[in-house]
Amino acid sequence: MAKIIRREKLVPNIHLIEIESPEVAVKCRPGQFVILMPDEKGERIPLTVADWDREKGTVTAVFMVVGTSTHKLSLLESGSEIPVFVGPLGKASTIEKFGTVLCAGGCFGIGAIYPIARAMKEAGNKVITLLDVKANYLLYWEDRLRAVSDEFFVSSRDNYYDCKDYIPKVLKQVLKDGRKIDRVVSIGCTYLLYTCAEATRPLGIKTIVSLNPVMVDGTGMCGACRVTIGDKTKFACVDGPDFDGHLVKWEELFSRRKSYFHDEIRSLCYWENKVFP
Ligand SMILES: Cc1cc2nc3c(=O)[nH]c(=O)nc-3n(C[C@H](O)[C@H](O)[C@H](O)COP(=O)(O)OP(=O)(O)OC[C@H]3O[C@@H](n4cnc5c(N)ncnc54)[C@H](O)[C@@H]3O)c2cc1C
Ligand code: FES
Repeated sequence: MAKIIRREKLVPNIHLIEIESPEVAVKCRPGQFVILMPDEKGERIPLTVADWDREKGTVTAVFMVVGTSTHKLSLLESGSEIPVFVGPLGKASTIEKFGTVLCAGGCFGIGAIYPIARAMKEAGNKVITLLDVKANYLLYWEDRLRAVSDEFFVSSRDNYYDCKDYIPKVLKQVLKDGRKIDRVVSIGCTYLLYTCAEATRPLGIKTIVSLNPVMVDGTGMCGACRVTIGDKTKFACVDGPDFDGHLVKWEELFSRRKSYFHDEIRSLCYWENKVFP
């Protein structure tokens, strides 16, 4: 059992969860993830670590409500307990002095990119942060991310921010403006990762994407998270989740992510006590 120290809604549909787990807090590094179960009958879901407090012994993740498990998690209150919380899992992101690093995050990835941007800054890089939101009221952790960034951009679909467009278009503009970027790191939905990788491919800028395929055990045993990188089969949970975005076989990833689509909808309907359409 692990205790939830804090669960709060950051913006509509996106929540923060802080869990007491000194063993995980002491070991986790940027880019790694944890696996948790919201209740005993639920499934195991992976979430990227968004922050940690080694002294307090807590780990923070940011999650977006998309299906049954994340709905259940969003209803848990501070002080309640979850039956499973394991980690840190996966390989940590490579943090070195690369020069200029552009950190791109969207939806839950705004939280997940934070420890990477912070570590890149601490390693002596110039950090450009580019966040993607549908509208201004969906932006969170702006202060935190600005504090570790040399330059800060937000792309949104409303008129609120100066960059009124999707992240890849803003990324292309940032590159056109003459900035030399040595590395791009991206976390968020698969479409965002794919479009970031495609935006940098012609320029040959190394682009690391944090993949989020379906996962079950998270320890390399079940094969659920199989991805193809170049001509090699990899398991995202143990070989990743970070991979070179220019080598990912994207069509396969998009297709495998849809494998349980009908079961996911059925599960949500069942849980919400609604008739499956
Ligand atoms: C290594 C790793 C790290 C992850 N880190 C995070 C994180 O930090 N925060 C977070 O919110 N999620 C993260 N995810 C995704 C998260 O695990 C899933 O969103 C979660 O398992 C969904 O469970 P569910 O039962 O709520 O939804 P499901 O019933 O499994 O899915 C419901 C529907 O939503 C779609 N969907 C699932 N995930 C997403 C998504 N991320 N974005 C858009 N649509 C989606 C599915 O295709 C499906 O149609 C991560 C995944 C991996 C593999
Ligand atoms: S989740 Fe089972 S092998 Fe990766």
